[in-house]
Amino acid sequence: MNTYLVTGAAGFIGANFVHYLREAEPDAFIVVVDSLTYAGNLASIADLMEDTARFAFCKADICDAEAISNIFDKYQPTFVVNFAAESHVDRSIEDPQIFIKSNILGVQVLLDAVRKAWVVAKDDKGYPIWKEGCRYLQVSTDEVYGSLGKEGFFTEDMPLKPRSPYSAAKSSADLITLASVETFHLPAVITRCSNNYGPYQFPEKLIPLVLNNILQSKPLPIYGDGSNVRDWLYVEDHCRAIYKVLHGGRVGEAYNIGGHNEYSNLELVKIILRTVRQLMEEEPKYRELLRVEEAKRADVSWISEGLITFVKDRLGHDARYAIDPSKIHGELGWQPTTKFPQGIVKTVRWYLEHQDWVKDIVEGDYQNYYSKMY
Ligand code: NAD
Ligand code: DAU
Repeated sequence: MNTYLVTGAAGFIGANFVHYLREAEPDAFIVVVDSLTYAGNLASIADLMEDTARFAFCKADICDAEAISNIFDKYQPTFVVNFAAESHVDRSIEDPQIFIKSNILGVQVLLDAVRKAWVVAKDDKGYPIWKEGCRYLQVSTDEVYGSLGKEGFFTEDMPLKPRSPYSAAKSSADLITLASVETFHLPAVITRCSNNYGPYQFPEKLIPLVLNNILQSKPLPIYGDGSNVRDWLYVEDHCRAIYKVLHGGRVGEAYNIGGHNEYSNLELVKIILRTVRQLMEEEPKYRELLRVEEAKRADVSWISEGLITFVKDRLGHDARYAIDPSKIHGELGWQPTTKFPQGIVKTVRWYLEHQDWVKDIVEGDYQNYYSKMY
């Protein structure tokens, strides 16, 4: 039976990953470590937490070396997947410090804990000899490569050229992970994925933010002229890729993850508008979720491009991300299975059907953040 230590799994992708893991390996023991920042929400993993024989939750900061060391001693994981990070670019522009702490120092704490737990001896040159079969996976991002022009794709051999405090911190984490591979032969792999969408995403990010605003008939803020391009991947496809890299990836290698699915922000918001309107028209039960007056619930034709508003651009806004996934496809046979038209309908439906989850988040502190940003 494998024991997985998964950090940051009260957040968006981590929560999806532990759900995926439960299906992929029903017998696995899963330990979630999360400090429950504003982005962490235990409601996202509440169903899994009920099963105390196969699941444990530890509220801890990955920067807290003592707490992390105690968790390793107690659970003795064989696999560690690190999702824990500050993840929102806009917040990193407002206040970079916490990004440096969690996204860099936190990773070093985990690497040190892994070394303490998994090194069994030293060879005659002084290199550590590692416990058989253990693996550390650092979840990174395509943003480490910087920004593309109209042509080309990110490949793993490109130099790291981060352009925001968030991506600079994530790049540093990649480099200290790779340094541990060189210096200590630490059995680590790295994944660099494009923009994810799907259930449990915090509504500061573009897709859930737009959905939440539509339900309130509020303007949909698009930065700049809306021409910035992102490469969108359904979160479950990302989780499956991480699982494959964890078990089959080569130590010391980074793997790009993406599905050739580029949209400008303006195109994407228009797709979301069309999807929401169509669902409201075809399934009137969803109209009850609209927090607008009666007349606007009866006739939803106002769910249209008229809601779009162009606002001040993000500082240093990266123009385009696009992944070349041929390495993970060629070496590990991974490719996405959810096509965007189906994925976006699934996502919109999920949010409509989980308004309690959304409401718990958007009330309180999120309101302060929103009014400061827009
Ligand atoms: P998220 O913000 O939704 O969740 C982050 C989680 O980490 C939260 O539960 C939070 O409480 C926890 N956390 C933050 N700092 C912590 C700390 N110091 N100690 C313990 N827990 C801490 O983020 P997400 O969108 O799910 O992203 C997860 C990871 O995937 C991040 O490393 C991010 O860089 C990477 N990534 C995200 C995307 C994307 O599109 N969202 C794409 C590629 C890579
Ligand atoms: O590419 C992977 C990255 O994707 C991850 O590493 C990050 O953790 C994740 O947050 C995401 O970063 P982005 O900055 O691309 O995601 P976000 O949802 O914040 O923005 C998507 C695009 O939409 C981006 O070009 C900025 C724009 N945008 C965003 C918001 C919140 C708007 O135009 N309006 C908005 O209100």
